[in-house]
Amino acid sequence: MDFSAQIEEVKRLASEKGAVILAHNYCRGEVQDAADFTGDSLELARKAVEIDAPVIVFCGVSFMAETAKILNPDKKVLIPDPTAGCPMADMVTAADVRAMKEKYPGAKAVCYVNSTAAVKAECDLCVTSGNAEKVMATLKGEEIIFVPDRHLGGYVSKKLGESYHCWPGCCPIHDTLSLGDIAAGRREAGISAPVLVHPECTKAVREAADQCLSTGGMCRYVRESSVTTFIIGTEEGILHRLQKENPEKTFLTIGNLCCADMKKITLEKVKASLVSGAGEVMVDPDIAAKARLAIERMLAIQ
Ligand code: 13P
Ligand code: SF4
Repeated sequence: MDFSAQIEEVKRLASEKGAVILAHNYCRGEVQDAADFTGDSLELARKAVEIDAPVIVFCGVSFMAETAKILNPDKKVLIPDPTAGCPMADMVTAADVRAMKEKYPGAKAVCYVNSTAAVKAECDLCVTSGNAEKVMATLKGEEIIFVPDRHLGGYVSKKLGESYHCWPGCCPIHDTLSLGDIAAGRREAGISAPVLVHPECTKAVREAADQCLSTGGMCRYVRESSVTTFIIGTEEGILHRLQKENPEKTFLTIGNLCCADMKKITLEKVKASLVSGAGEVMVDPDIAAKARLAIERMLAIQ
């Protein structure tokens, strides 16, 4: 389908309204093409701070738009479909974090950015899949509560030779990727193509893969690699960007991973949001102030 006319219309409206459009790597291809910047959750959080525009249209899921709002309390942040959530983020509540802090009173509480603002407000520090190892290295030797992703927590703690109290959450999409999917991908590729998986995958899958990277990390790895075929173990939306940036390279997806929430963001909804200002993200100022500390501490670690 040719989306060029709709993309032009969205870009025209955005410039008329003084809006910058940010899109996550998992968004529909046409939404990525309409965006001013596409990236992973860390890159988008950093971009949200740099932006000099009164309006941010955030194409992604609600925790990402909330993060942009928390970092930019004076800007209008719009999410084109406010029902686009993250099932993993909803697996832990602020009350759950408080209960863990009571159980482990000396521990530092760390949340994956895939969490609600209320959960972030209970935590000392936030991480993304793109910086978790570096950020957690600053807490080496401390007792750690890690929420909500047991897979990312397991991945980082093993890398750093530590042991965390991990909340048993996970991404229901990445959790389905299996060793059989990796084997099928390797058979289909017919050559020794590297398998890149996201840290939200299970331990067995991470260990069977060649690289475990955030979506931004995958884009960089592919760009810098001399290899021409890659097996991709993450949400299929990233294929658009990988193929666009590397037209001469071949990508094979495994496991049919598709995040229905990311796909809720359509060009039609982006346009409607720009026209009417619908989908404004609101975060309680007290919660935002506490959550901002956890996010800003993370962003300060380069
Ligand atoms: P990234 O941090 O790689 O953007 O991943 C976010 C996410 O939701 C993965 O499922
Ligand atoms: Fe959440 Fe998984 Fe979708 Fe990422 S892919 S936004 S972790 S449900």
